[in-house]
Amino acid sequence: MINFDQDVPKVELAFMNADHAEATRIINGLLSLLERDPPDTTKISTVFEQLLQHNREHFSREEEQMRQFDFPPYPVHKHEHDIVLAEMEAELGAWSEAHDLDRIKHYTRTTLLNWFVNHIATMDTITARYICNAGGPA
Ligand SMILES: [Fe+2]
Ligand SMILES: [Fe+2]
Repeated sequence: MINFDQDVPKVELAFMNADHAEATRIINGLLSLLERDPPDTTKISTVFEQLLQHNREHFSREEEQMRQFDFPPYPVHKHEHDIVLAEMEAELGAWSEAHDLDRIKHYTRTTLLNWFVNHIATMDTITARYICNAGGPA
């Protein structure tokens, strides 16, 4: 489980912190489903799809504000979002085909969690500070 207050860095924009709290809630739901024995593959699929959909919306809200404020490293931040969405789509596809529990556990507990915290600590933090200093969000 991730503890939003302790483990997730806070940025200078409330709408981004709200999205990160929602992502944390969905990730925790997925992590607890992955602990269950036997696993409920249907529920795992549903929550994984919710997380993907949440990320599409969460990333596009950040991207909209970056464009509004002409954030210079926009392409770098956007590119990282695109890579993560493509990776999540590939993982969801692999999961739907094979229901490989070890694979989805490794992806969620390691790849996704590390990315989530690192991305907020770096790109989201810098982006929020820039937009905040520019008078945002729009
Ligand atoms: Fe974010
Ligand atoms: Fe981001």
